[in-house]
Amino acid sequence: MISRRACFRNLIQSLRTGSTASKLRSSNCYTSRTAPSLQPVVELSPDSDDEYADVDWDNLGFSLRPTDYMYITKCSGGDSFEEGHLSRYGNIELSPSAGVLNYGQGLFEGTKAYRRENGRLCLFRPDQNAIRMQAGAERMCMPSPSIHQFVEAVKQTAFANKRWIPPPGKGSLYIRPLLMGSGPVLGLGPAPECTFLIYASPVGNYFKEGLAPLNLFIDDEYHRATRGGAGGVKTITNYSPVLKALTRAKSRGFSDVLYLDSVYKKNIEEVSSCNVFIVKDNVISTPATGGTILEGVTRKSIVDIALDHGYQVKEQCIPVEEVMEADEVFCTGTAVGVAAVGSITYQGKRVEYKMGDQCVSQELFSTYMGIQKGDIEDKKGWILEID
Ligand code: COI
Repeated sequence: MISRRACFRNLIQSLRTGSTASKLRSSNCYTSRTAPSLQPVVELSPDSDDEYADVDWDNLGFSLRPTDYMYITKCSGGDSFEEGHLSRYGNIELSPSAGVLNYGQGLFEGTKAYRRENGRLCLFRPDQNAIRMQAGAERMCMPSPSIHQFVEAVKQTAFANKRWIPPPGKGSLYIRPLLMGSGPVLGLGPAPECTFLIYASPVGNYFKEGLAPLNLFIDDEYHRATRGGAGGVKTITNYSPVLKALTRAKSRGFSDVLYLDSVYKKNIEEVSSCNVFIVKDNVISTPATGGTILEGVTRKSIVDIALDHGYQVKEQCIPVEEVMEADEVFCTGTAVGVAAVGSITYQGKRVEYKMGDQCVSQELFSTYMGIQKGDIEDKKGWILEID
């Protein structure tokens, strides 16, 4: 076991060799000093020189395993965030009248760090999360970190928590950037201070089914988003309203809920936790984004891969009847990855879909994973090495 000081020195040395060095405030990057209004108060893990944290890597689900460090910075007035820093992962302090607590002024993102067979640590398109956070911040009246600051912060968080990045093929380190109105408000309005925070947790499969096909339920009572609302950005307020439909569907044995548009109640939109695609006669379709559907990073990547593979891809309205007649259905998302759908139930009728190795979704998933693992050349510059 090396000392905390030596561990710190090693980290700084490693970061100096990469572009993250300039962004680290070496004076406090490994202490518990933080912004005055957000003090981490709990120290959860001792420093360790071990390559891996003590985790049962074969049984990772999608639940929180606190890691060593989180990143934090804030913006009080103006548009720029202070230079951020890493601090021990722990609880944060918020005013009871913080905008995020009272009016839901908050956004989140999700991206993953992977460990390749050759030991290299990689991120997948974190710039896309940065761009999406900027769009969301604009919608939610918050300043946002620059793309550079966002990506550097993600890199720092992943690197500082690298012992929590699972061995190759066992999962990934899920990285959760948050942007929130942390300053106090009473009357409705944007908070005077915003906080950008990133934490991470090692994860395996999102669904308890593992890699088995999903059984979705189409809910025609609850909707996820409305026209003119904020369904197209990753605001925290898009997620708890679906809990009612989701818990009800899960209690009936379904994996997740597929929502319909709230105007006509006839076109599919997305699943609680991911985007959706259908395949019919080798043509791939996914609901067009138009303010009610999240522009998923995995969604966008799969569309690009499908076009490269020569498929026709349509982004359009998809009536529920077409879904019930599709050959294949699959879901995409950072947390979910690419997941085949085995069945959909709508108004008491259950249809089953083609599954297995010959499916379009499998073909696209193999390429997507191949690029991440380094087995397929990354011609698009999607992979960012962090070490
Ligand atoms: C993600 O895929 O990263 C998400 O944010 C979905 C969330 C419900 C886990």
